[in-house]
Amino acid sequence: MANKSLVKATILLSIFLALPFLTTWAQQKMNFTAGKQTFLLNDKPFLVKAAEIHYPRIPRDYWDQRIKMCKALGMNTLCIYVFWNIHEPEPGKFDFTGNNDIAAFCRLAQENGMYIILRPGPYVCAEWEMGGLPWWLLKKKDIRLREQDPYFMERVQLFEREVGKQLAPLTIQNGGPIIMVQVENEYGSYGVDKPYIAAIRNIVKESGFNDVELFQCDWSSNFTENALPDLLWTVNFGTGANIDQQFSKLKELRPDSPLMCSEYWSGWVDKWGDKHETRNADEMVAGLKEMIEKNISFSLYMTHGGTSFGHWVGADSPGYSPRCSSYDYDAPISEAGQTTPKFWALRNMMARYHNGKLPTVPKEYPVMSIPAFRFTQTAPLFDNLPKAITSYDIHSMEYFNQGYGSILYRTTLPETEVSSILRITEAHDWAQIFIDGVFITTLDRRYGEKEVTLPPLRKDARLDILVESMGRINYGRTINDYKGITESVELLTEKQNYTFSCNLKNWQVYCLEDSYAFAASRNYVPLSSAGSPGYYRSTFWLKKTADTFLNLEQFGKGQVYVNGHAIGRFWHIGPQQTLYMPGCWLKKGENEIIVLDVKGSSQPIIEGLAKPILDKLNNPQPKIHRKEGQQLNLNNETPLSEGSFSMGNGWQEIRFKSPINGRYFCLRAINGYKGNEAAIAELDILGTNGLPVNREQWHILYASSEETHRGNRTADKIFDHQESTFWQSATGISYPHEIIIDMGTSNEIIGFRYLPRMEQNIPGNIKDYQIFIKENAFILN
Ligand code: GLA
Ligand code: CA
Repeated sequence: MANKSLVKATILLSIFLALPFLTTWAQQKMNFTAGKQTFLLNDKPFLVKAAEIHYPRIPRDYWDQRIKMCKALGMNTLCIYVFWNIHEPEPGKFDFTGNNDIAAFCRLAQENGMYIILRPGPYVCAEWEMGGLPWWLLKKKDIRLREQDPYFMERVQLFEREVGKQLAPLTIQNGGPIIMVQVENEYGSYGVDKPYIAAIRNIVKESGFNDVELFQCDWSSNFTENALPDLLWTVNFGTGANIDQQFSKLKELRPDSPLMCSEYWSGWVDKWGDKHETRNADEMVAGLKEMIEKNISFSLYMTHGGTSFGHWVGADSPGYSPRCSSYDYDAPISEAGQTTPKFWALRNMMARYHNGKLPTVPKEYPVMSIPAFRFTQTAPLFDNLPKAITSYDIHSMEYFNQGYGSILYRTTLPETEVSSILRITEAHDWAQIFIDGVFITTLDRRYGEKEVTLPPLRKDARLDILVESMGRINYGRTINDYKGITESVELLTEKQNYTFSCNLKNWQVYCLEDSYAFAASRNYVPLSSAGSPGYYRSTFWLKKTADTFLNLEQFGKGQVYVNGHAIGRFWHIGPQQTLYMPGCWLKKGENEIIVLDVKGSSQPIIEGLAKPILDKLNNPQPKIHRKEGQQLNLNNETPLSEGSFSMGNGWQEIRFKSPINGRYFCLRAINGYKGNEAAIAELDILGTNGLPVNREQWHILYASSEETHRGNRTADKIFDHQESTFWQSATGISYPHEIIIDMGTSNEIIGFRYLPRMEQNIPGNIKDYQIFIKENAFILN
């Protein structure tokens, strides 16, 4: 009770402090509610046209220009997440200042005449490090994230109270711009747990959001699973989706509810090593137009994506797919806040609903190039290690109180006469192995790499494992993503047909934290020979400042800091080659740049470009799942099941006559309803309990063809838990098309579920199919 009144008192005090900032809205006593089939703003019908933008992805100096750009698109609202991990870097240490000053962002929105939809998590997804959750939660080893784990819930409550102190004074009822507040985020793609959602709802209410409209968002296919009766329900889907089909279930269950697409995806997110993602502008605009015509409110995710600066970008799963720093998203407003063809197409359409009159488009910030300059100083990584921590057992980074950056594990090895295997379980995320200072190889978590062959070893040879962490997984059940080495390091030797395993102990551990302060305090020397892991430092002179795109093509892999600002990650594999450098963080005169290159650069040179390079892959081949000339031979196989799918959108479920055991699942599409191509958005294989079997170990063994020229439609898209991404056979290649999933282990299977592409009237709907399931791999000639 005492606590509650304290919270109330703090809220009242914050309202009082915020009063001078509130505009005339305060006197008007505003309200926003869900009425019959429409939202009501002060009791009048109101269509929410929201632009999603993220305050930490935009330098604070540029917030105003970005908000005005959204307004120039005809938007009346901004939709924002609250990113817990930037606000609470250490338990109990809160930061709502500078670029984190979310209340200032909301007030600025209000000054620009924009409303706010607030999405305070605690989990936000958003391709953000650990979906917004702070890494230090993982110090409780058995923590159940996004569940009613007492410690998790206690921390959520403490954080949401702080959010309340900042933002509850800014709800529309209190004269501020916040019209709606979201409870959790797409919980349906994580689990089924109404009591947990109800507990989060209660925390949000108790934090001061008790009279503002609360809602929850999910997909049309799963929103019922966690839907609470007292919350408004909205659905998320992307460009091209069949809009009527997306809302049909919701309309049936709640015919009087206003409809809203709370995330309409304008584009998509890039991953390291994969093609740059784009989505068609006309299709995006057509979808928005259709929603306006049908009185469906929307939020365009993203209207302006911006940048995941420093180490804030997350990674996708199943498997591990780290995302790029650029969050351009192929959104209408580019990463640097510029107009794009998509922007103009959208503005033209929106203008029709504003009597042709939209606010003028604000000025863009100028862009410049910077002539190439060479780095002259270096601090080699191995000569600049911090103090070692001695640890008998190996532990992940979190155990040593480190959240981000790289970690070096060092020990001595026993003598071996022949080659041996070093098995690391597991190195998160990119490990380099050195013996006596000599580089041996790398292990890349993206490919599940765990083992290295070592040459014969002298007695007491020094083993160094340098592990660079990338973003924590932000989506799915594996967000408890520990960094560094998570379990063990073993040395396996063969003697007289026996394998001996030695679990390595006695480690010296060096925590190389990711911060400007750490990078700047290394011991720099004149650069004579480059090429090894290290920090590179230089200065460059500017007569004027403007935005630019730093070209990192001459570097390997790592992080960049300019004038103390963490700019982001680079990796030569692409597709992103340049990093967005906001002009507001540059200075006239001398500027300092530090590049941490964990791989090493032989030509440490950087230039600033006037245009970004976001689509240059340096992988030799796109990642497809069929070797040149390979053919699947099904001649001696009998289909376990065959039949016809129906035409259209939405999930279709097939049950087998009797359960079957197997590890490999092959779907053969014999023909389709339209066109030559087969497409699948998602595929679930059903275990004996009728629920989808776990996909964590899945990989594609074979796909007869994959479209990688027009878009990124590789076969792994059928199990990425994203309904808007899909596998498609290559254009011009006719049926049959086959795809084989290796589930990693044998499962007892009773059937499967198939989700066609989400779009209406497009090619790709499969008609006749056959299913083959086997314990052993199929024959591939
Ligand atoms: C979901 C999440 C968002 C974001 C998008 C993909 O809809 O709710 O946070 O991750 O997917 O960009
Ligand atoms: Ca998918």
